[in-house]
Amino acid sequence: MNDARNSLALDPIEILTVPSDKCPMGKCDGSGFIWIKDWSKRHEKNVMDECKKECDCYQQQQKQREIDKKLDLSGIPPIFSRATVHSFDTSLYTSDEDRNIAEVAKIAAVNFVENYPIMKEHGKGLYLYSRVKGSGKTRLASSIANALIKQYGADIAFIKSADLISQVKKTFGSKETNASDVVATFRKVELLIVDDLALKGATSFEEGVIYDVMDYRMENKKPTILTSNVTIQDLENIYPGGRVNKRINKMAMEIYMPEESIRDQEAEQENAEFEKILFGE
Ligand SMILES: Nc1ncnc2c1ncn2[C@@H]1O[C@H](COP(=O)(O)OP(=O)(O)O)[C@@H](O)[C@H]1O
Ligand SMILES: [Mg+2]
Ligand SMILES: [Zn+2]
Repeated sequence: MNDARNSLALDPIEILTVPSDKCPMGKCDGSGFIWIKDWSKRHEKNVMDECKKECDCYQQQQKQREIDKKLDLSGIPPIFSRATVHSFDTSLYTSDEDRNIAEVAKIAAVNFVENYPIMKEHGKGLYLYSRVKGSGKTRLASSIANALIKQYGADIAFIKSADLISQVKKTFGSKETNASDVVATFRKVELLIVDDLALKGATSFEEGVIYDVMDYRMENKKPTILTSNVTIQDLENIYPGGRVNKRINKMAMEIYMPEESIRDQEAEQENAEFEKILFGE
């Protein structure tokens, strides 16, 4: 007892929080705070002798919460919320040629993420294209987005081209939102990802909206990633004004994706799993 009293006199601060493995530092109970008692203040009137201080994990948790929020608000398709660039499997494609094409695309994606600060400074994005649906364009774009949010805390808006147009259209006749606010969001976001650009011919209104967003982003050096089933050059058939493809040509590096659908393979694999459940091995 005497020992305890002596040691408290020397160091009157007692840590009340019992550390648990919920804290990555092993210091707090996972709450991000450590409760301490200052025994020297015990007999002082109107003075709190217990208080909490930030654990070293607090900033880290705060950062993680911000990242989770950004991931949540980004619009990345939920099925790809955990997709990473590294788990992009180039061995799934059946021909050597497609595997090579996928390998080149994957390396470009890795390099884009690694060099994002430079790409961002110059407003350079990517243009992933292949005619075939299900070849991995949306998946690769999503995994780049996931990586940029986690590594750089990037602010990202991921949207299908058709949804971008319909969001603008929805504002017509609405009192709460107007078209220019919606357009401004996509013009100004740090990194915009437009999925499935130009799936079909565009009306001049649609062309105007896409041009408006792209022109602003080019002028202001804001990077954009696009996926499409036509080459940048062939965009002219869909946006006949000819200005959309010129902007995109300046803003995005073209990356060719394999002309092979992984979706069919995935479905077969998935069905095989369920066959095992239903019919046994
Ligand atoms: N290289 C890959 N590694 C793992 N899964 C892939 C790969 N490429 C495609 N997939 C899967 O195939 C399906 C179709 O991919 P998706 O990105 O939607 O194709 P696209 O956008 O080209 O139409 C998705 O379920 C995706 O998870
Ligand atoms: Mg897609
Ligand atoms: Zn902690």
